[in-house]
Formats: sequence, structure tokens, C-alpha cells
Amino acid sequence: EVMKDVSGLSDMESQLASELNVQQAIIVSGNSDRYSWVKKEMGRACVRQMKEQLEPQDVVAVAGGTTLAAVAEMMSPDDNVSSVSFVPARGGLGEKVEIQSNTISSTMAQKAHGNYRLLHVPDQLSDETRESLVLEPGIKELLHLIRQAKMVIHGVGEAETMAARRKTKAETLESLKDKQAVAEAFGYYFDRTGCIVHKENTIGLQLDDLSSNQVVMTVAGGASKAEAITAYMKYRPSDVLITDEGAAQAMLRK
Ligand code: F6P
Repeated sequence: EVMKDVSGLSDMESQLASELNVQQAIIVSGNSDRYSWVKKEMGRACVRQMKEQLEPQDVVAVAGGTTLAAVAEMMSPDDNVSSVSFVPARGGLGEKVEIQSNTISSTMAQKAHGNYRLLHVPDQLSDETRESLVLEPGIKELLHLIRQAKMVIHGVGEAETMAARRKTKAETLESLKDKQAVAEAFGYYFDRTGCIVHKENTIGLQLDDLSSNQVVMTVAGGASKAEAITAYMKYRPSDVLITDEGAAQAMLRK
């Protein structure tokens, strides 16, 4: 805390929280675009919040991405997280295995000494297949767990970066450009006013399902993500935003 006051980060945290309408903003020093240890610091801050806010037996839904992978890496056991069940928020979104939500929830569970469940669904699903898959008992039960999650933890990315990382087809890329998508979270793309302009078709958590009883934690940093984070928060301000100085400065400068 003393360190934060010296560098003015706690002033910035309250400014950022009121600017974005989030209940709480946590800013770690540095810019994760430049140094990868900054992502780990965001991970550490996120784990601390989880340990404060979770209770035994809770369910936590986690998204994918390198930032969430850093959260998983920083996890360690304690009374509040060691009986928690970790579940992936949504099915495959075209990411590499290492940063898929399935992998991240299992790593988090292993490090927390908790439990996990996997959601095995292919990235590209026809409407027909999706409709029959959600009726499978194992999947149905997992979808029920995901909806019950006490806490949802997710990242935010730049629309263009995410579309490229997922090898999105040319037609969708064009449409994202036309609709001026700037942000991506949970497989949804947003324009700068926070409107959804495209959604990937996969099962699991749908943004409409998020209720006010759930604690939604967003973990995203790096100056390059400033516009994306601001846009996403216009759609739905989170309960907790964990970010870094690089992103926070850029968001406040605008
Ligand atoms: O694809 C999963 C996801 O959580 C996206 O919703 C998000 O935009 C992205 O990963 C964030 O990835 P990273 O933390 O690597 O920037």
C-alpha cells in the first residue's frame, strides 16, 4: 500500500474506477506490453482477490488467454480456494491448447488443490450439432455449473488481434472491420460504444446469463488494450478490474 501511495497508483485506481463505472480498480506497476512480469503481477493481484472473495465449494468460471494463464500460474492453495470448482466459461474459441479456458481451469485447480471440470466441444459447431450437444447429460450438467458460478474471471483483447489469433475467416474479418469492432471478450466483439457487433458460436456462458449476484473480474493490461478495455466496460462494467499502469494511463488520458 505504501508503495502504491508513493507512485500515485491508488489515486489512479479511484479515478479509473469512477471513469469506467467499475466497483473496484486495481492497478499494478508497469506496462505488460513491454514486460511479461507485469502480467504475472496482475495474476498475483487476481489470486489475492479470489482468496478474499471466494468461499469453500464455490464455482469459478474462467476464460482463456495469456493473461488468465498468468493468473493460473500464480495460484496457490489456501482454505478458501482448495474446495473450489474451476470450470471453463465457454467452449473452444480457436485458441492454442496452452491458453484455452479448459487448460487454464485445470491448471488453476491443480495449483489451488481444488477441483475442475472440462468442457469438450469443438471450436466450429453447426447450429444443429450445438443444439444436440447441449442436451448431452454431462454437458448439460456442466452448463448448469457454469451458470451457477459465484465468480467469473476473464480477459479482454483488441478485436483485430483476437480475430487474427483465432484465424477468423476472411468474411468475418471484413464484417468486424465494417462494424468497427475494437474489443473482444468471451468470444463477443464490441465496438467503441460497447455494442456487441459479432459473437462466436460456442456453448457455455452467454453474456446475457451474467447476473448481478456474480462477481465478474476482468484482468487485462498493456497500453495497447486501453481502447478495448474502455469499450468493453461500456457494455458491462465489471465488479473488479485488474489492470496495469500502462493501460490505466492510456485510459485516463483518452
Ligand atoms: O480467447 C480467450 C480470451 O479470453 C479472449 O476473450 C480475450 O480477448 C483474450 O483471450 C485475451 O487474451 P490475452 O490475455 O492473451 O491478451
